[in-house]
Parts: sequence; structure tokens; C-alpha cells
Amino acid sequence: MDTARIEEVVGDFVHLKKRGTSLIGNCPFHGEKTPSFHVSVTKGIYKCFGCGKGGDSVRFIMDHEKYSYPEALKFLANKYNIEVEETELSPQDAEAQSAKESLYIVSQYASAFFVKQLWETDEGKGIGLSYFKERGFREDILKKFEVGYSPDVWDAMTQSAVNAGHNLEFLEATGLSIKNEKGKIYDRFRGRVMFPIHGFTGRVIGFGGRTLKTDKNVPKYVNSPESEIYHKSNVLYGLFHAKKAIRDLDNCYLAEGYADVLSVHQAGIENVVASSGTSLTVEQIKLIGRFTQNVTILFDGDAAGIKASLRGLDMILEEGLNVKIVSFPDGHDPDSYMHHVGAGAFKTYLEQNRKDFILYKANVLLKDAGDDPIKRAGIIRDIVESIAKIPDPIKASVFIRECSSLLEIEERILLTELNKMRSAKSKKTFESNQRANNNANNNPYSSGPPEPLGPPDNLWDDQAGPGDLQTQTSAEDHQEKEIVRLLLAYGHEFVNWDNIDDMYIGSFIMQNLADVDFENPLCKKIVDYYKSEIDNGRLPTANHFIKNEDREIADLAITLSTSEYALSENWLNKHQIYVKDESMHLKATILGGIFHLKKHKVDKILSNLLKEIKEEKDADNQIILMQRYGVIKGVEREISRFLGSVVVK
Ligand code: CTP
Ligand code: MN
Repeated sequence: MDTARIEEVVGDFVHLKKRGTSLIGNCPFHGEKTPSFHVSVTKGIYKCFGCGKGGDSVRFIMDHEKYSYPEALKFLANKYNIEVEETELSPQDAEAQSAKESLYIVSQYASAFFVKQLWETDEGKGIGLSYFKERGFREDILKKFEVGYSPDVWDAMTQSAVNAGHNLEFLEATGLSIKNEKGKIYDRFRGRVMFPIHGFTGRVIGFGGRTLKTDKNVPKYVNSPESEIYHKSNVLYGLFHAKKAIRDLDNCYLAEGYADVLSVHQAGIENVVASSGTSLTVEQIKLIGRFTQNVTILFDGDAAGIKASLRGLDMILEEGLNVKIVSFPDGHDPDSYMHHVGAGAFKTYLEQNRKDFILYKANVLLKDAGDDPIKRAGIIRDIVESIAKIPDPIKASVFIRECSSLLEIEERILLTELNKMRSAKSKKTFESNQRANNNANNNPYSSGPPEPLGPPDNLWDDQAGPGDLQTQTSAEDHQEKEIVRLLLAYGHEFVNWDNIDDMYIGSFIMQNLADVDFENPLCKKIVDYYKSEIDNGRLPTANHFIKNEDREIADLAITLSTSEYALSENWLNKHQIYVKDESMHLKATILGGIFHLKKHKVDKILSNLLKEIKEEKDADNQIILMQRYGVIKGVEREISRFLGSVVVK
């Protein structure tokens, strides 16, 4: 429910405009000309003051798509790429389920026990609380994260839990209690300050306990073991408290430890999580990706440590997230630096010292290499390797350009290197796909590795005369691809031109090309799918094609999302360099795309007719064909005139 934001879910079906604190639009449930359909983003609900329908995201999908509750959930899960595991509960499953529930319950009990110890006992106050106070933590932060204290007694927590009626079996299953060889039960956590780890929904699923002793033989942290409810690789410390802020601010700070998360919160920055000692996993990155595409790593001080962790960050790029870095001076970590400079200065520091990961990495490595040409060559490969991990080719090419000036290497050379790596990589996946799929060579459209990144072919190339079939076909191919490109780039935007009603550009294009057959089999597949989705009241996303399981469709979609126009937009934003920006001439671009394709189709009909006329022996038939030619030529002239008047080149 947190993920399926009402404005996004409704916005897929209703054109919403901002009005005051809510969004309004025309109600999709009853015909109306003036909008009375309200969406409250903060409440996560919609309400029509015309027909009275209202509810949350799930209700909306149920009503709009006529889905049952589980179907609506699946629909939303699909929209947000959340995996739905389906199981029918057998009696054993039901038992396991309630066993799992019991693990949550004992964990919650232990958490409350530790909190009580910290705030209400002499030992807790004298040792635990005073420790936190000395480090400069505020009470409200300690309470917010429900930190606690485990007394330095052999089995205080276990005894208390058992006395309260909890089952030892479950205490052991969470790792909170341990049975030694002699069968004696004792507490895992003793004499430590306790950080409960909350799951996604806010339930306590595990603990980290920090010792207060300086003895080097005592491990600094003792952590809960893996259990039915605690899977370290897909948990991020602090996520439960941070997720709203992460989404609102569209960025997630990633730190290393519990103390860092608390300190950053104390500075008033709530969009922070920690990987908690384990090296970052793909699951953790995907978890972040559900809330934002932007990750800012807060690095612990020393240069050697930073260099060692750089490689691991490529994984985040690979998941398509944007990565920024903040490092701290003089061996500080986020926690120590916050307490060192204070909340205000810390906040400013984060804002002013974010560096893009790739450029940061390039800088760090360059400094290291000095003038050594061999080392420098290695760095170039290293950097390009990182860039090759970025799935979005547009972003990748921007980095190539920036690194080209930073590394003082021609962009062309970096691009070549990048394409080599990309095609090596996709060749690998391609070959393994081939192996996995014995039927693969039955596919006549198998195209091998995707087209390399680079300036696209000229999509406006319509120099082909009607007689020149070769060029005509390839020009037609370009025109079809251009339509697909426009669908991907602008399908979700609104047509807002003079006498055309509000409608999605995707629907507009489909409506205008209803009578056109696509020749390119991949374009045809994409367009057919697009059409059928629109017929069913859904608007396909570019991502649907970009992430399509059909590799060829995905490749084409990716290539088409790499047009020079899209790039130039990026340049405009990033560098204030003015280049022709097609989105400012959207009407001309869209109509141009539609009618260029139509013109090609008509030209093709004309050249076929011409051939027929030449081959036709019967004079009467020839006259009929020539009349038809005349009519169609008229259509062609109309289209040309139209193109001349709307298309600003
Ligand atoms: N960690 C661990 N076991 C250790 C050391 C560290 O599990 N022996 C994990 C903890 O989750 C810790 C994180 O790694 O939070 C980062 O380690 P560190 O920076 O040493 O700990 P901090 O939380 O920063 O603790 P403090 O500032 O109190 O030293
Ligand atoms: Mn620390």
C-alpha cells in the first residue's frame, strides 16, 4: 500500500491536474465534462463528488478494471514489480505461519524488555543510557529507534520472557536465547546497548548489540542470527523509519552502521538506512529501488577503505540506480562528523559535498595513478566498466562525455571501449539464452547483440524515391522505428493541441495509425501490443518494453530510447547547451512521425501501382489502375502539403 501511490495508480487512467492541496480530474466512473473527481495524495484516497465513488489505490483498480481484491493486488504488484508469492496454506503451513508469528511476538517482547532496562533500571540508566548521552544522542532519537540495554546477567531476558509465558522454543529460534551443551539456557545479548532491527512493516525481526567494553577480545557487535523472520541480505537497518522520507525526497542516504543512522536522523535527515556490516546485497539495492532511484553513499573516512568499496558499488549502477557519494574529512564517519560539527553544518555538508559516483571514482583513481600511463590506462578500463553497468544508455553516454574531459581522452575512444564491453556482456547473456532455449535458432529475427550506442541513423531520412525499393524499405523501417520511439518517449504525455481533446499521445498515435500495417516485425509486435493495451484501457510504459522478457523487443526499445534528441535534452539540462529540443515542438514531432510513416506507406502503394500499370497488358485495366494511381497520388500530395505546413525542421 505504501508503494502503490494513489496519484500514480489513478494517474495511469485519469488525467490529473493540481488544484489546491489535491489533484482533480474527470471521473472515470461516470461521464462528466467538468472535473469532480478528487485525489488526495496525503490521504492516499480518491473521491468523486459527482457519483460518490471513492477509495484507495486497490479499490480504484478493482472498480476501474473490474477486478477482485486479489486480482487488483496482483495488478499493482505487477505495476511496481513486487513479487507476489502464492501459497495455499496446508495445515503444516498454517502451523509454520503461526510459528513465524510467534517469533515476531518474542522479538517484540525482547525489544520492549531491553527498552525498559535502558530507561528504568539503575544498570540500564547508569551504563547504557549514560553511554548514549555521552555520545551526544538525544532522547527522542533513542526512543524513536527503540534502542535498549541488555543487563550483564547470564539469562535476565530469557527468564523474564519465560515468566511472561513465552515459549523457549521460539526464543531459541530467534537466537535471543541459546542453549549450551549442558542444556543450560542463556541470553545471547548481555551487557550491551541494543539496536532492534525493524522489518519493512515495522515489526522487530532481529537485534544488534554493541558492547560497552573496550576489551579487544570482546566482539564490538553481537547480532541476531538468521531466522525465519530475519534474513540479513534483504534487510536495511532504518528502512522502516526512513521509507516515507526516502520517497518524498527521492533520495536514500546509505551509511554503514546503526550509530550512523541515528546520528543522521538526529541532524534532521530521515532518508537514511544502513547495510549494517554486511556488504551490500542486490536484494538490499532492489529494496531501495522500490522507493527511489537515487542513492547517496555516506562513506567512512579513510582512502584505502573507500578504494576497496568502490568496486562493490557497480552493483548499484547495475540495478539502474543513480549513485552519489559523500565522503568525510579526517577519518570521520557520518556519526562522528555529525557530532563533531553539529546538525546544521552536517546537513549543509551533505548537500554541498555530493559527488557523482563515476566522476568521484575517476578522480580517486586518477589521483592514485599520477602520471603513470599504464596505471592510467587501467583506470580508463575500470571507469568504462562501471559505465557499462548502467542500463540506461542515455545516462551512460552522458558519463562517457564527462569522463572524456576528465580523463582527457577522446569520447570516441571511450565509446568504442564501452560498446566492446557491452556487446561482450550481452553476447554472453545472448549465448546463455541460446543454450537455454533450443528453439532460439527457429527465430528468423534473431539479431544477436544489441546495436551499439552511438548517434542514431537519421530518422527523418525520406529522400527515397518511389522507384528505389532498397532505400525505400530502409526509410520505411526508420519511420516505423520513429513511431515506436515516439510511443516510448512521449506515450504518457498529453496531447493538448487546439481542437483535440485531452488524450494520451500514445492513444493519439495509435488512433491515427489504426489503418497502417507495420512491416518491421519487432515494431509490429510492439505496436500491436500497445494497441491492444489501449483497447483495454491501459497505457503501456516504456519500461514494459525496455524490460521486456523478449530480448529483441527490449533491445530495440533501448536503442530507440537512445536518440540524439533524448540526449540533447539531457545536455540542455545538464550543461545549458542549447540544442534543438523536440519536446518543445512536440506537436510537430508527433504529427511529423505519423505522417512521414503514412507518406511512406502511400509511396509504397504508388510504386506498386506503377509496376502493375507497366505490367498490365489490358488497356481498360490499365486505365482503372491509372485512375486509382491518380486518387492515391492526391492523398500523397495532401500528406506532403500537410507535412510541409506542420513539420518544423
Ligand atoms: N558490525 C558488526 N559486527 C562488528 C562490527 C560492526 O556487525 N564486529 C556492523 C554493525 O552493524 C555496525 C556496522 O557494522 O553498525 C558498522 O560498524 P562500525 O562503524 O564499527 O559500527 P558503528 O555502528 O558505527 O558503531 P560505533 O560508532 O558505536 O563504533
Ligand atoms: Mn561509528
